[in-house]
Amino acid sequence: MHAVLGGLLLLLPCTSAFLPSTPSSLLSSRSLTLKSAAARHASPLPRPSLAARPSPRFAAALRMAHGKCRAEYIWIGGRGGCGDDYRSKTRVLDKRPTSVSELPLWNYDGSSTGQAPGGDSEIYLQPAFMCADPMRGGDNILVLCEMIDPKNNPIPTSTRSVAKKIFDQAPEEEPWYGIEQEYTLFQDGVPMGWPKSTARPFDIPSPLMQFGYPGPQGPYYCAVGHDVSFGRLICEEHLELCLEAGLNVGGINGEVMPGQWEFQVGPCVGIEAGDHLHMARFLLQRVCEENGVIVSFDPKPIPGNWNGAGCHTNFSTKKMRADGGLKVILDACEKLGKNHEKHIRLYGEGNERRLTGTCETNSIDNFKYGVADRGASIRIPRFTDRDGKGYMEDRRPASNIDPYVVTALIFDTCCLKGDTTAFEAYKNSIQL
Ligand SMILES: *[C@@H]1O[C@H](CO)[C@@H](O)[C@H](O)[C@H]1NC(C)=O
Repeated sequence: MHAVLGGLLLLLPCTSAFLPSTPSSLLSSRSLTLKSAAARHASPLPRPSLAARPSPRFAAALRMAHGKCRAEYIWIGGRGGCGDDYRSKTRVLDKRPTSVSELPLWNYDGSSTGQAPGGDSEIYLQPAFMCADPMRGGDNILVLCEMIDPKNNPIPTSTRSVAKKIFDQAPEEEPWYGIEQEYTLFQDGVPMGWPKSTARPFDIPSPLMQFGYPGPQGPYYCAVGHDVSFGRLICEEHLELCLEAGLNVGGINGEVMPGQWEFQVGPCVGIEAGDHLHMARFLLQRVCEENGVIVSFDPKPIPGNWNGAGCHTNFSTKKMRADGGLKVILDACEKLGKNHEKHIRLYGEGNERRLTGTCETNSIDNFKYGVADRGASIRIPRFTDRDGKGYMEDRRPASNIDPYVVTALIFDTCCLKGDTTAFEAYKNSIQL
């Protein structure tokens, strides 16, 4: 299928180069397609398999001769930035904008997303970050938005607005982030690859979840093979789309629990980390939607001796990366320790089910940092210790964090006064 698509894609630029983009040329290219389709029907040979036909996405790219740009405006709904409440709608523009500032303000009905009362429900969409739309291809774009109320204030779920203000106070610190997003794929109510069964698992009270158990963890991490790796095609397609979109995604790997995967974002500077992570999650949701799979960002999707899912966040500033940086890192760990309780509330809903002190985690109630310690809250990589400079890894964030919140909290604590309470409004507003 890839070879077929590759060949067709190669043809595309030539076609648009010699055909003027007038309606008549459109017609002729369409009638060509129709003709070959008719020829296929008339042929006594079997029709090509589904896989040999252009995908809906490619068919959409073919239609780009209309010269318009479809902008997919994306925002975060009332359940917050946990990864499973992206909302989006399409706006047709006459041409592709060169920057977000050229994009028009738009609006939506906040009472339908749990973000506004019915009486006064209009919320504005302020474009904040854009990239190529790899699903539709061509000149189409994805647009991540901030959500603004009629009095021109960001609504509590619009955490980007708050995070941006925090980062803008000290850009000279040059904060870098690398985030490891773990997630679990489900199909028909079962984690991918898990045996189906009508038995209700004894430790899951929900009658909706019925499955048997695979063998214990061990063979699944970074595994290769039909009996140990489940859902790779989804992850591969997701990676491809992220790269096509120009997102700073650095890799993918299979995780410890069967059906669990990870992708990495970064290094990104400041607010970019949240922008790229949200956009990459949005694309993952779309790939899964097209493939009949559900992605869960729950921090502990299966109770018991099965690894949870986190969002380990690597962090450094210019000073931490320079000679003598280790001291800056140790100071930062002390500051983060003092704020542990305040931060952990915002490090993902249900994180207490994951941070139990087992399965490569530290307990949620006690903060500790250490060199190369997977059981620590914050791990200092061995080579950072050896070189006396580098970065640290905050292992506490759950897979369902809002990355704007976590990256900005770390920055506020390590580089500013550490006094922000700005995300409390967010915490209080989200509806689970
Ligand atoms: C984060 O740090 C860990 C530990 O050094 C490293 O293994 C991992 O590749 C880093 N991930 C990202 C996304 O930067």
